[in-house]
Amino acid sequence: MNVRDKVVIVTGASSGIGLATAKLLVKRGAKVALVSRSMEKLEKISAELSNSIAIRADMTKILEIKRMVDQTHEHFGRVDILINNAGQGYDAPVEKTDIDTFHYIFDLDVIGPLVAMQQVIPIMRKQGGGAIINISSGTALMYLPNMSAYSASKRALAGISLTAREELKTDNITVSVVYPYITLTEFEKNTIKASGDNREQGSGPSPGDTADYVAQKILDGIESGEAEIFAHDWMKKMTERKA
Ligand SMILES: NC(=O)c1ccc[n+]([C@@H]2O[C@H](COP(=O)([O-])OP(=O)(O)OC[C@H]3O[C@@H](n4cnc5c(N)ncnc54)[C@H](OP(=O)(O)O)[C@@H]3O)[C@@H](O)[C@H]2O)c1
Repeated sequence: MNVRDKVVIVTGASSGIGLATAKLLVKRGAKVALVSRSMEKLEKISAELSNSIAIRADMTKILEIKRMVDQTHEHFGRVDILINNAGQGYDAPVEKTDIDTFHYIFDLDVIGPLVAMQQVIPIMRKQGGGAIINISSGTALMYLPNMSAYSASKRALAGISLTAREELKTDNITVSVVYPYITLTEFEKNTIKASGDNREQGSGPSPGDTADYVAQKILDGIESGEAEIFAHDWMKKMTERKA
């Protein structure tokens, strides 16, 4: 799908991959709803991006997600593309995984995107089509110690996405999953960590990608409509643990 003049919801637009994606989309002529919990940050970003609005929503709160989609629809008159990007990591060994924290991560990384999908699907169907891009993680393709909860959440998101893709084919709604690799954002700082987790970051085949690099991959995914978009080609074969 060509993004020019399309209305796009970008969740997690206040930082990192979401912010870079929102900027790129506006540059390519899209109209963007910038969504996150930090209204002040979003308003500042929106002031610098033509054709954008700032909408506050906590993506773990079902009513706030519904209101956010309604606000976008009312403001722009349509919703063509949803980018479910808001997310957070949680590092803890299985034995020490805190169940309340796991619930929170699952609410944010899986249920929030699912609810947002449920809100935009009827709108897109009525319009004759649309695109949904869900940001998973390379972690979903690996078995990394300490990352079971995050990895399980991102696998769940990929599973929902690819199932929805099959279900929505006849509605001309394309659902895609993006698997970023280590990306240089606030993600690591924001990852919830079990005490004593001193895992080194950035080890692997490359030190990390820029948010702009991933944003371009997301745009490529919207344009191509591919089912799965990998930050790097070598990730396609990545089904075993890689540190
Ligand atoms: N960076 C990586 O290495 C990497 C690798 C693979 C996948 N990913 C995925 O890429 C996505 C973007 O992450 P990032 O690297 O850009 O991280 P980031 O810099 O920490 O940004 C996370 C974004 O999510 C928003 N967010 C967090 N909790 C939220 C909530 N409850 N409700 C609404 N928004 C919320 C944050 O905004 P507020 O705090 O303003 O709400 C922020 O805009 C995530 O889904 C992450 O899992 C990242």
